[in-house]
Amino acid sequence: MTVKAVAVVPGESNSAHLVELPMPCVEDLHDGRGVLVKVLRVGLDGTDREINTGLYGAAPPGQDFLVLGHESLGLVEEVGPQVKELSPGDYVVAMVRQPGKSLYDAIGMPDMTTDETYYEHGISLVHGFLREYYAESPERLVRLPAGLRDVGVLLEPMSVVEKGIGQAFEIQRRLRVWQPRSVAVLGAGAIGLLATMVLKLLSFDVVTISLEEPPYLNSELADELGARYVSTRAMSLAQASEMFGPFDLIFEATGFSPMAFDAMEVLGKNGVLVLSSVTGGSLTVEVRADAINLGFVLGNKVVVGTVNARREHYEAAVRDMALAECQYPGWLSRLLTHPVSGLNNYLQAFEHLESERRPIKVFVDVAPM
Ligand code: BGC
Ligand code: ZN
Repeated sequence: MTVKAVAVVPGESNSAHLVELPMPCVEDLHDGRGVLVKVLRVGLDGTDREINTGLYGAAPPGQDFLVLGHESLGLVEEVGPQVKELSPGDYVVAMVRQPGKSLYDAIGMPDMTTDETYYEHGISLVHGFLREYYAESPERLVRLPAGLRDVGVLLEPMSVVEKGIGQAFEIQRRLRVWQPRSVAVLGAGAIGLLATMVLKLLSFDVVTISLEEPPYLNSELADELGARYVSTRAMSLAQASEMFGPFDLIFEATGFSPMAFDAMEVLGKNGVLVLSSVTGGSLTVEVRADAINLGFVLGNKVVVGTVNARREHYEAAVRDMALAECQYPGWLSRLLTHPVSGLNNYLQAFEHLESERRPIKVFVDVAPM
């Protein structure tokens, strides 16, 4: 028996195609610790777009294709005899990165690996989840309450947000009494909106800053959370900071690296700037180096990069999703803007990803829920 999957040839542009893989079985994993998962839904993002343009991504060793998909939602169908933490019928989301060899990997923090090579499902050296079934060990799966099933495909991007914000709080313990008042989120795509949501759940004053002029869906979604949406077409970041700042925390998620340096200029004293955009290109810009450096030195500021997430962040994301469903009922599901029905229609997913007005979330319904 085989299962269908969507794969690319890494390094080749527009190489997405269907492949057949052997049906996995729980015995595939040693010691009776296998979990067979039926894939229900898979989200796609800018990373998938970059992989399909050939800019990013690596095939598993010895193979010439990479199965895509790192934002998954699945249903447990079968578990090995030694699996006690999950049962058939549980909804699960698989973690993206596999542990490598560094000290951080050894203590359960693969998201902080110092290895040159990293292993990420659907991205780097390990097949992803854009397929009908996969087998995984329970250590790599996060259980989702059935009540969150409809928005569960957002858990992986949400885990990335939780890690970024978590990093800011860890770092700011240096200040003993950090009480951020004004917070800016740069970018109003899925990550920017989810970051806005998590920061609103913490009751901060949030300004969500993006290119497009309001009103449109993304700006309305920010408004509904009680955040303030600002278009950089109407107001520069510096002006926004004069009006609503100084910003104690800035979360950068525009995917446009020059924004990182603009953000450095407007970060408040003792502030922290979190950078989360994975920019695979080679863009260069001129920056006001003296001024930025001086501001950081005299203002005790911090800039931190963040990537990926580990179990604690997935679990924080589950809790915040549940909280969000209570506080902003129905809001999360409005991010699910571009459904694609079935693996066979994978080309539609890439058309959506490439479209001029960036979709919030493109996802493939692999099997009915
Ligand atoms: C994924 C992360 C991953 C990063 C870098 C993102 O799109 O969501 O899990 O670590 O890409 O490959
Ligand atoms: Zn991603």
